Amino acid sequence: MKPNIILAIESSCDDTSAAIVSNGKVMANCVANQEIHHLYGGVVPEVASRAHQANIIPVVDLALKRAGVKKEDISAVAFTRGPGLLGSLLVGTSFAKAFALSYQLPLIEVNHMEAHVLAHFAEDPKPTFPFLCLTVSGGHTQIVLVRDFLDMEIIGRTLDDAAGEAFDKSGKLLGFGYPAGPLIDRYAQLGQARFVFPEPAIPGLDFSFSGLKTSILYFLRREVDSNPQFIEQNLADICASIQQIIITVLMKKVRKAARQTGIRQIAIAGGVSANSGLRKALAEMGQKEGWSTYIPDFQYCTDNAGMIGVNAYYKFLAGQFCTQDVAPYAR
Ligand code: KG4
Ligand code: ZN
Repeated sequence: MKPNIILAIESSCDDTSAAIVSNGKVMANCVANQEIHHLYGGVVPEVASRAHQANIIPVVDLALKRAGVKKEDISAVAFTRGPGLLGSLLVGTSFAKAFALSYQLPLIEVNHMEAHVLAHFAEDPKPTFPFLCLTVSGGHTQIVLVRDFLDMEIIGRTLDDAAGEAFDKSGKLLGFGYPAGPLIDRYAQLGQARFVFPEPAIPGLDFSFSGLKTSILYFLRREVDSNPQFIEQNLADICASIQQIIITVLMKKVRKAARQTGIRQIAIAGGVSANSGLRKALAEMGQKEGWSTYIPDFQYCTDNAGMIGVNAYYKFLAGQFCTQDVAPYAR
């Protein structure tokens, strides 16, 4: 039988990505990173859209070549519909629609955050249902109760900043470029978490990170006032302390969600799930609490079209296609 081959496109933020997914298995997952945003301390939407426009055709060609697939062999085209930056989403959405139209293929729209969760089905070991997924990225922080491939409920979310934003904004205060998360992670591994920041008191399963950013700002101001070299002299310990408080806040809520729901299959997903401290904390808490834990391979943590293709495969099986007139959504 002819395999089900999906061409998947992801362009929600600053990574242009294309993947080929055959019968649910990722055959190629190519990403063009936009280094240019380092210069600005954050993603500049206009710059991101222009870079997507320049990158999308080469990235798609590369994915086809790596997978050894011809355009004529494709069964469906999938794209990230949202959430994300509108100008960025429009590039991937328009490309996918034009491709589908010219090859007369069905179209599949995918929610970026649901795709982060389903990235767990790109490789073994795969979680079984139901499971909880802590989805932590630059724009979102959610605890998701996953009942089935296409049946998810958000049971906790951030009320303000996302966990990735907490890393990025704290890193900016330390003079790091964007994204600061990976740099904080690297320095944290060399330091001791000896500075204490207050934990936000948010009831239930929700999160808040904006107060943390403010307390880090005031702490740094106070210390730099009395010692202008404070940041340089204590960089590793400051990073370890910032990372520690963010992980503590995340893991306490995950434990609460697991105890409340009785679910013991726990996964993490999204860009921040690449963090070495969070990966270790999940494994350790999992052992203590008797959980089975699921940590994605690095290529499936940050934004990638592989996860879009995997999600689209399950939508294909369920017959969930979309029409040419669907519009992207920012939130
Ligand atoms: O999922 P993602 O690639 O894009 C969004 O959908 O937002 O996540 C990007 C976020 C950024 O905030 C980045 O700083 C963070 O993930 N990140 C990390 C690490 N790698 C990426 N944060 C902490 N430690 C890391 N190793
Ligand atoms: Zn993402």
